[in-house]
Amino acid sequence: MGRAREPKGRIPVRFRSRQYSLEERSEIEGPEPVFRAFFMEVEMQEQFMHRALQLARQGWGFTNPNPMVGAVIIREGAVIGQGYHRAAGQPHAEIEAITDAGRNARGTTMYVNLEPCTHWGKTPPCTDAIIDAGIDHVVTAMEDPNPQVSGRGIETLRRAGVKVTVGLLEERARKLNEAFVSYMTQDQPFVVVKSAMSLDGKIATRTGDSRWISGLPARTYVHYLRTGYDAVMVGINTVLKDDPRLTSRLGPFRKRDPTRIVVDSTARIPLEAKVLRSSEAPLILATTTQANQEKLELLRNSGVQVRVFPGPRVPLADLLRDLAKEKIISILVEGGGAINASLFMGGLVNKVLFFIAPKILGGRSAPSPVDGTGIAQVAEATELRNVTFKPFPPDMLMEGYPHYRKEATKTCSQA
Ligand SMILES: NC(=O)c1ccc[n+]([C@@H]2O[C@H](COP(=O)([O-])OP(=O)(O)OC[C@H]3O[C@@H](n4cnc5c(N)ncnc54)[C@H](OP(=O)(O)O)[C@@H]3O)[C@@H](O)[C@H]2O)c1
Repeated sequence: MGRAREPKGRIPVRFRSRQYSLEERSEIEGPEPVFRAFFMEVEMQEQFMHRALQLARQGWGFTNPNPMVGAVIIREGAVIGQGYHRAAGQPHAEIEAITDAGRNARGTTMYVNLEPCTHWGKTPPCTDAIIDAGIDHVVTAMEDPNPQVSGRGIETLRRAGVKVTVGLLEERARKLNEAFVSYMTQDQPFVVVKSAMSLDGKIATRTGDSRWISGLPARTYVHYLRTGYDAVMVGINTVLKDDPRLTSRLGPFRKRDPTRIVVDSTARIPLEAKVLRSSEAPLILATTTQANQEKLELLRNSGVQVRVFPGPRVPLADLLRDLAKEKIISILVEGGGAINASLFMGGLVNKVLFFIAPKILGGRSAPSPVDGTGIAQVAEATELRNVTFKPFPPDMLMEGYPHYRKEATKTCSQA
């Protein structure tokens, strides 16, 4: 026989008021309803943090070099204020949520996916606003990954008597801001290699034709990705063979184009290439001292940002370090195989997004996503971790994070 149902609202309301400790309630009501209430409470907290993460995601593509942050303010189980960081230079999520809640913010709980800042940047510290608003409790998913400020926001709030809980849905929060987290702890942008290949591992036919290997859903998703990454990078052969625009074309949903980067040691890029005239977004040509100076001057005059490195090939690790200094925190690399090989060989790839199409192209000379000389033994392979699969019918997206064996990586200038 099933137990009679608890009157609706009884447990959560009393539990939320936190007038009794779990032990006290267990004595009064018996353990079962108390555990049930406890799990309901945890579920509710996760839902609020989930909402904060959803809000944060709306900043995709606009917050860089800042992270994506969302916040909700809760009173008695109801959202009374919410907001997200819309763009770098604009108010932080916490301020948006406090403004939304108005005077009701006093005595509430705030859920925010990143530790509130405690320093002056383009905007005042969020910790001051939280304290002034009289918020009692801040639940944050993770500490700020910036080693210079990490933990200080939490400390400031606690010193002012605000209760702080850290770590709710931390894994999801880290994934949302994976580029920012990585950028804060390395001196290079977060590098994602995206490729579309046939089931037999080819990114083009033996004649170099690659349009289209993947279907419309996968290609649309790539346009969405381009709106979110700071830059898109290709090797010069891809420009010569495919003449891509490297813009984000999402129709009415189009948000922004990324900076385009072409790696081209001798400035072979044609002056009529689409990438030169398809967008207002910056175009960076990474080249070497071997390039023709007059051609470089022509390119500069047409608005291209030319970066010259010692040759014979563009040293990708140096290029990435320079881009990081310019606050480019994430790069989507769209091939081809030669650029990808150099990046993998240098241990410079942070994430892989491979679309696998149910097509067979065949051909010994047809290119694959990672070119170069390759390895001799399977045991030497770079393995992916945290692998997931997502369907983009008729294709499949495989996502993962390379784990490099130290001895297998060379510096990129050697690659
Ligand atoms: N299906 C897909 O997802 C996809 C995506 C992209 C491309 N593709 C296909 O891939 C093919 C092109 O690929 P690819 O491998 O020939 O060329 P690529 O990777 O596009 O470009 C390679 C070129 O970049 C230049 N480069 C400069 N510095 C480099 C460095 N450190 N490491 C590597 N390359 C450097 C080199 O030319 P210089 O020495 O002259 O500078 C090199 O030949 C095309 O057929 C295209 O259609 C397919």
